[in-house]
Amino acid sequence: MARILGIGNATLDIIHSVDAYPHENAEIRCSDRVSRRGGNTANLLAVLVQLGHDCSFAGMLTDDSDGRRVSADLVSNRIDITPCRTSNTGTMPVSSVLLSMATGSRTIVHYRDLPEYSFQDFAKLDLQAFDWLHFEGRNITGLRDMLHRSREHYPAVPCSLEVEKPHAGIERLFGLADVLLFSRDYARQCGFEQPERLLRAIHADYPEAGVFCSWGEAGAVAIDRQGSLFRQPAVAPGTVVDTLGAGDTFNAAVIHGSLAGLDTTALLQQACELAGRKCAQAGFAGLVQQ
Ligand code: FRU
Repeated sequence: MARILGIGNATLDIIHSVDAYPHENAEIRCSDRVSRRGGNTANLLAVLVQLGHDCSFAGMLTDDSDGRRVSADLVSNRIDITPCRTSNTGTMPVSSVLLSMATGSRTIVHYRDLPEYSFQDFAKLDLQAFDWLHFEGRNITGLRDMLHRSREHYPAVPCSLEVEKPHAGIERLFGLADVLLFSRDYARQCGFEQPERLLRAIHADYPEAGVFCSWGEAGAVAIDRQGSLFRQPAVAPGTVVDTLGAGDTFNAAVIHGSLAGLDTTALLQQACELAGRKCAQAGFAGLVQQ
């Protein structure tokens, strides 16, 4: 069991399940509507707790009903929220999600007016207490200072960086992390139609990092520090129920496998298996069988 700190986002997700994704200007009914706590880092930590780790979340909360609901959910998932800051402006970020039952796709519209977790908040934390630091790739200026601080003051604590979207300047952070976790969205928006191409380009510039890219139903690819490339097919669930957070689950499993010292083949296998299992169920509860 490791002590893991995740720095990033928690959200409130409002999820509408629809038979098929609608046309623009259509009016349709959903077959189900649930709201639950989401957010990449919060989801990832919820999975890591189930994998047996002690997890703490450093992110923004609010002192209103949505914020209290999100905090209560994190606590009930056994995630320590003492590093969080409660903002006195803004509201909890809300993601409105259309989950297509026909394809399993999840289309997300974000609303956000909450300030970001700042470097000043982060600088108060005693990072010595942790075995792994995971950073969500957002708030690039703040993140740059956080990563520099981690590397300078706590060089022995491994850092992972999730790169889900192409924020301006995010590439300048790549050299500061030990593990880089790319999404298909990021690869495509950078013009890469295949994960191998993205990872080869990244490895050429940042050979010190282990690099991973998950690609939905096409599985995942990794390049290790020796430059070897590994491919793993997806583990298809019998029925796709909910793909929201499958990438977060994959990333959690990569951190878990890295901490366990698994070789890259076994690690990718485990990560694809867990992400596939996630797609077969709604939410994250009970994902890891004890
Ligand atoms: C899934 C997720 C949702 C959240 C959105 C934020 O990966 O974390 O829970 O609404 O993405 O980008």
